[in-house]
Parts: sequence; C-alpha cells; structure tokens
Amino acid sequence: MAVFNLTINGESNQVDVSPDTPMLWVLRDELDLVGTKYGCGIAMCGACTIHLDGTAVRACQLPVSAAEGKAITTIEGLSENGDHPVQKAWLEIDVPQCGYCQAGQIMNAAALLKQNPNPSDQEIESAMTGNICRCGTYIRIKQAIKQAAANS
Ligand code: FES
Ligand code: FES
Repeated sequence: MAVFNLTINGESNQVDVSPDTPMLWVLRDELDLVGTKYGCGIAMCGACTIHLDGTAVRACQLPVSAAEGKAITTIEGLSENGDHPVQKAWLEIDVPQCGYCQAGQIMNAAALLKQNPNPSDQEIESAMTGNICRCGTYIRIKQAIKQAAANS
C-alpha cells in the first residue's frame, strides 16, 4: 500500500492503495465516484472513460501510480451543473437507453470535441468506435455530438 495524492474534478484527494490499483476502483470504491462504470476491465468497452489532463483514458487500465500529479476528470466533474455542451446535447437528443455506457460515451465525446471542435462524421465514428453500447444508441450519440459541436 502507498499514499497517492490525486487531483480529481479540481479537488485534492488522498488514497492509500496498492500502486497498481486501477483508477476505476480508486474512484468507485475509495472515493464513491460511481458515475464511472465497469464494463469489461480490459480496455475494450469504454464504460470507464475519464479524462487525464484532458485526454480520454480507460480508468480500468490506468494504475493509480500513473495518475498522481495529473488532472483527473470524471463525469461528476465534467461540468458544474450538467451543462457541458455534450451533456446538453445528450438531453436534447434523448440519447440514453439503459444508460450504463453513457458516462463513458459522454466523456469520450467531450474529449473529442475539445481536441477537434468540428469533427466530420468519419472522425466521430473513428473517435467513438471503442465505446460500446449494447443498447445500440450509436445513431443518437452521433447526432448529439454533431449538435454539441454546432452549439459550442
Ligand atoms: S471497463 Fe474499462 S474499457 Fe471496459
Ligand atoms: S445505453 Fe444501454 S449500454 Fe448504452
């Protein structure tokens, strides 16, 4: 075990865990930030997507030791009041079905738009391809990303 100082959603947190503990479990089990979901545990589904210094990463494959000193953002901290352009577009288009994958989808979409504010259809598809939705909400996800791009 070791103590790690983590900056999550702009706040400092200390956790005492094994250095190889994935951030997914630090967030969920140590800090009760349960918006980040467990899907596959092997970087194949995107349900656990968070931002590390603004870049989308898979929390299930990010050891806590690699997150220290970086700015970590989870779905709980993406915006103050759920009013990030991606979150607003998600509501307007009514994207979610069961909702399980959606935090990861939103985090990945937000990182995409930060990097590329006006992505083409192909760029959206290629950026979002690793985020699986078993409910098949892909068409609405794409519409919402385009709407968020147009509105921001
Ligand atoms: S739980 Fe991390 S990518 Fe599936
Ligand atoms: S909304 Fe159900 S898995 Fe995506």
